[in-house]
Amino acid sequence: MPVTNDDLLELVDAALAADYTRVRRVGSKIANSLDDETAARSLRTLIRRKGVPLRASGYAESLPVDGKSRLPLIEEQPWPTTPVFLSDANGAVVSSFLEDVRNADLLASKGLATRLSMLLAGPPGTGKTLLAGHVAAQLGRPLYTVRLDSVISSLLGDTAKNIRSIFDFVPAREAVLFIDEMDAVAKVRDDRHELGELKRVVNTVIQGLDSLDDRAVVLGATNHPQLLDPAIWRRFPYKIDLGLPDTDTRAAIWRHFLFEGADGAQPLQVLAAVSEGLSGADIQNIALSARRHAALGGGSIDAGAVVWAVLRTREGQLTLPSRQGVAADDRKEFALRLNGASVRPAEIARLLGVSKPTVGAYLKGSEHAAG
Ligand SMILES: Nc1ncnc2c1ncn2[C@@H]1O[C@H](COP(=O)(O)OP(=O)(O)O)[C@@H](O)[C@H]1O
Ligand SMILES: [Mg+2]
Repeated sequence: MPVTNDDLLELVDAALAADYTRVRRVGSKIANSLDDETAARSLRTLIRRKGVPLRASGYAESLPVDGKSRLPLIEEQPWPTTPVFLSDANGAVVSSFLEDVRNADLLASKGLATRLSMLLAGPPGTGKTLLAGHVAAQLGRPLYTVRLDSVISSLLGDTAKNIRSIFDFVPAREAVLFIDEMDAVAKVRDDRHELGELKRVVNTVIQGLDSLDDRAVVLGATNHPQLLDPAIWRRFPYKIDLGLPDTDTRAAIWRHFLFEGADGAQPLQVLAAVSEGLSGADIQNIALSARRHAALGGGSIDAGAVVWAVLRTREGQLTLPSRQGVAADDRKEFALRLNGASVRPAEIARLLGVSKPTVGAYLKGSEHAAG
């Protein structure tokens, strides 16, 4: 469909009204109708990048704030600029959620309406926040994030009142409400608060969720789903356990962050295999660090140093690749560990930048192998 005069009028009208939600919606529509793929892509990038120029517009004033401290209770976050990689099963849940949101009216007319609420569970760095951003972007809606832990923090005034004002604000905006750190509610029990207050906070969240209109899209994130109150849990019919990424997902994350734009054969399978137990955020950090080294050193990526950083990170602490590559003292252990992970000696030699006989010597246990 070509761009119409109405689209352009709508765009200018929305821009002058500082209604960025509408600017993005019309902008996306125009991007979809452009024949020139390059221009369409630039337009989409622009819409994403310039996601939050709210402060200048005075629009931010209307975001709810804590009565006492005037700190904002909700923040609008820009749509993500990097892709999210999901297992097939999780991808399918997200797709069906998006489909149900897009067809909410149709489903309601057939008496099949459901709460449009999805709970994202998983350890830190597994892409919960990122996925929330993608859901918002896919729906063309702004992403309003509430960090429940900070709303409950002692810095702020009346917690229950704050939670109410958050839920009062959202439905009017056709937004995606993202409630991050949901387990903060459950933790109220432990510290300063008494049991009575815990109940009040939980009830306020439940009332808030129940007060939203049918088409409100709510995403919740938690690192500890088992701590959530069952009544809250039940209010999220869609659930995704992001967990740590599986082998295929790890390969996709490595490909994107480490080898984007690189050509030739890449040791993707080895990286995917050895990085079991790492989160997407760990992989991203290690990969980007290696890319920075390569960019500043003018050379190519030292995949051996990356693998070594991965092996170290699996022992607990995030370790970034060394600029110097795998130290001579570590090469034997490197070879033994990769051999233990069924990596072929030729591949180990390539990663270390040594000859195959040298690797053979490492594996035989010779301490004095020649480099
Ligand atoms: N599954 C994934 N796919 C792509 N990138 C990921 C994934 N998981 C983590 N990342 C990377 O790690 C970063 C941090 O993830 P984030 O969404 O903040 O995790 P969480 O909210 O679960 O703690 C993301 O911005 C992204 O760059
Ligand atoms: Mg997060």
